[in-house]
Amino acid sequence: KETKDQLIIDAGQKHFGATTCKSCGMVYAACSPEDELQHAQHHHRFLEGIRYAGWKKERVVAEFWDGKIVMVLPRDPTYAIRKVEEVQELVDNELGFHQVVPRYPNKTKTFLFISDEKKVVGCLIAEPIKQAFRVLSEPTGPESPSSKECHRAWQCSNVPEPAVCGISRIWVFRLKRRKRIARRLVDTLRNWFMFGCFLGINEIAFSDPTPDGKLFATKYCNT
Ligand code: ACO
Ligand code: ZN
Repeated sequence: KETKDQLIIDAGQKHFGATTCKSCGMVYAACSPEDELQHAQHHHRFLEGIRYAGWKKERVVAEFWDGKIVMVLPRDPTYAIRKVEEVQELVDNELGFHQVVPRYPNKTKTFLFISDEKKVVGCLIAEPIKQAFRVLSEPTGPESPSSKECHRAWQCSNVPEPAVCGISRIWVFRLKRRKRIARRLVDTLRNWFMFGCFLGINEIAFSDPTPDGKLFATKYCNT
């Protein structure tokens, strides 16, 4: 009975004012001032990106011709943590994720790719894990669920494999994609996640990948 009620409530929301913004993709209730404010904020970040003015104490872990990667740790100053939260909010809104509280908040490592224009154009959030389930190749045939209906329902092996590092978020600003920013973020993560060792491909895992994330992960893990 509960499920039925829930269905009715969801259908109701769709009818009463849920709008999808054509530019930023956010779904929000146009009649709610709170939602409108949240949308205005997301809309601006989505189109303009998030500025990074530079910090007095910043941990630069990699430098490139087109930018640098800064690592943020849980005990860093509030201004650093706030910046990470701002980026995560943009990423989660874009991915349609609900705010998830990390399981090991004090062991999370975040990597921000800062462009030459002083904007945050890439983000990778990682946490320690003990095991992961390998994604199996996509099921095919008439029995398989339509990929349109369940974007994230990749079939996973039910045999856990040991892993060390879980990538809970990876994201690149939409205008900077396909410039190897994600690849450089993962390379840097493998170098900096554990002191004194470079993590192997089999020691890292991508959690709940999107179609983009899966294409990237497949390519990254095979090269
Ligand atoms: N389609 C096909 N192949 C792709 C794609 C794609 N959308 N993205 C990456 N690849 C492959 C390519 O082979 C690419 O190499 P090439 O450009 O030389 O052909 C290779 O992966 C390396 O790609 P990068 O340039 O390093 O990847 P990019 O910086 O564009 O970032 C990312 C990839 C992070 C998935 C980006 O598309 C993105 O932010 N998407 C939206 C957010 C998202 O879905 N993130 C993943 C969520 S899952 C999770 O967080 C665990
Ligand atoms: Zn918008």
